[in-house]
Formats: sequence, C-alpha cells, structure tokens
Amino acid sequence: MIIEGKKIMVTGAAGFMGSYLVDRLLAMKCEVIGIDNLSSGKEEFLKSAKRKKKFRLVKYDLLEDEGLEEYMDGVSIVFHLAANPDVRVGESNSSVHLEQNVLATYVVLEAMRAMGVPAIAFTSTSTVYGEAEQVPTPENYGPLVPISLYGGSKLAAEAMISAYAHTFDMRAVLYRFANVVGPRSTHGVIHDFIEKLKKNPDELEILGAEPGTRKSYVHIDDTIEGIIHGVHVSTDRVSVYNIGSEDLIDVRTIADIVSEEMGLKPTYRWTGGVDGGRGWKGDVKLMHLDISKLKSEGWEPKMTSAEAVRETVRGILGK
Ligand SMILES: NC(=O)c1ccc[n+]([C@@H]2O[C@H](COP(=O)([O-])OP(=O)(O)OC[C@H]3O[C@@H](n4cnc5c(N)ncnc54)[C@H](O)[C@@H]3O)[C@@H](O)[C@H]2O)c1
Repeated sequence: MIIEGKKIMVTGAAGFMGSYLVDRLLAMKCEVIGIDNLSSGKEEFLKSAKRKKKFRLVKYDLLEDEGLEEYMDGVSIVFHLAANPDVRVGESNSSVHLEQNVLATYVVLEAMRAMGVPAIAFTSTSTVYGEAEQVPTPENYGPLVPISLYGGSKLAAEAMISAYAHTFDMRAVLYRFANVVGPRSTHGVIHDFIEKLKKNPDELEILGAEPGTRKSYVHIDDTIEGIIHGVHVSTDRVSVYNIGSEDLIDVRTIADIVSEEMGLKPTYRWTGGVDGGRGWKGDVKLMHLDISKLKSEGWEPKMTSAEAVRETVRGILGK
C-alpha cells in the first residue's frame, strides 16, 4: 500500500506512539487528521506537528462524540491507536478495555464503512498470545488464549477488523507489539521506576518476584519504521506482523539500567507479585516475539532490548 502524500487519519494521535507516527507521516508529505480525547495523550507531543499546515488535531472522544465520518472524507487509511493500553487496570476495572478497545474500534470501523475508507492499520499486542508455549512466538501461533482483559480486548478488536475487512472490502494490517519504549511513554515499567526513584532514591519497589518477568522491549524509532514498512509491503487482505526486538531482558536488568543512568544505587524491594511471581494478574511471565516475518520483508530493529531501555531512560532524563 502506498501512503506517501495521502490523506490519513490517526486515532490516539496525541499519545506516546501516535505522536511519533504523526511526525513520521508528515515527513512523508501525508495530510494527517489526528483524533484524540487527550485522556492520556498530550498536546505538547504534537508541538512540531501543529506547526505544519498538513496536520489537524481534532479533540474527539470515540465513545462520547458523534460524527467521526465527517473527518474521514478522502482518507486512504486509518491508523487506529486510540485505546486504553494499561494491562494492569483490567483487574480493578473490568469494563474499560471492552469500551475503549473493543467498542471504540467498532465505532472506527463503522465510520470507515459509511465513508468507504479502504484500509486500517491496528496496534494490537503480544498479549493476544497469552502464555505461548512456543517462544519466540510467530504470528501463526495458536490457539490464542490471552490471560489479561487487555489482551482479550485486543484479540476481539483484531477479529472484528478481520471480519469487517472481508465483509466490506477493506484491507487491514494488524501489528502485535512487544513492549514499546521511548521518551514520550507515559506508562510502563521504565516510567514507573523513574518516578519511584525520583521520590525515593534509596529504595526501589519492584512488582513481582526476583528477577521478574522476561520480555522483549522495542524502541519507538524501530517500531514506527516497522509500522510504516508493514503497511508498504502488505499485500494480503489482512496481514499480521509481530514487531519486537531480537532478544528479551528481565525486570532486574531494567532496574539496573534505570538506576545506573540516574546515578543511583537503590536497594530493590520485590513485592513477590501474584500467581508465582507475576507483577500483577494478567502479567505474562515470558514474552519474546518471532519477528522473522517482517524481517524477511526488509525491516529490522536496530536496538536490542537493553539498548532500547537505556535510550529511553536517557531520553526521559533529557540526557
Ligand atoms: N506502548 C506499548 O508498549 C504498546 C504495546 C502494544 C500495543 N500498544 C498499543 O498501541 C497503541 C498506542 O499505545 P500508547 O502506548 O501510545 O498509549 P497512549 O495512552 O499514549 O496512547 C493512546 C491515545 O489514545 C487516546 N484515547 C484513548 N481513548 C480514546 C477515546 N475514547 N477517544 C479518543 N482518543 C482516545 C489517548 O488520549 C492517547 O493519546 C494502543 O492501542 C496500545 O494498546 C502499545
């Protein structure tokens, strides 16, 4: 799919990943309509985008507001990122992922159908695999048995997108990401550790049991290139691509990197976690994606998990 110079909608445009994607699309001379309710997104992330004539930010809530169609006139593809990405929240609030991830996706798909928008790119997640027995996990692994409400909601959204694509002649690209990290991230383990160490430099509380879960972390720059690459090379009605780094690291290593970059030597206080060492209910213990499919199409991540984490910490600290 060629997207250079096209009119594109990005939902979740003011978020961590959305704002980097907007910048990248504008650099490709696209006209970009950003949709965001600013629940976790920040206008300041779009400071440079807002200076460009080809960008428009619409403050719009996918569940509360009406008339999304009117912003889709002439749009070639919707990058649908708007969601509640916090896996942890599912345990205490069982409706938020259904609403923000499943129903919001339905709203986007219905507006696309009404306006004849031909393509959607969707930010799904490694959590759709649940606790996969095959690691690294390829895209064709199954059955998909998520263990968090977040993973379940994203799998439901994937299924709905696939069904719409086949029923209403759309194209879809579904991305299943490892943990995406980068300077504008407003949630996740790195953000959490930095905030805790700013409050108490001597002790770091870590959710889970030592050495913590082992997962793959991918830098936002590698992620955005993977997203653009996937759209360019996809030819199937529905394409699915894993995006991650080549390796994985445990939580203790992340704590070590964050402490080192902050010039601190805190004592680690492990909470012990739940269910035999998970940080929280629904937290997958081992996650490493097989990324050979998109690599065989010419994309590859430049950073390892540790490099991605270190770059992110430096970025957040303004180093
Ligand atoms: N960051 C990761 O590690 C990761 C991994 C896998 C998948 N994802 C997915 O990628 C996407 C982007 O994640 P992120 O980390 O940038 O999160 P984020 O919270 O920074 O971005 C989500 C954006 O959507 C907006 N939004 C939420 N609900 C909305 C609604 N009802 N209407 C309009 N806007 C709404 C928020 O204000 C925010 O700007 C999400 O779909 C997330 O599930 C992220």
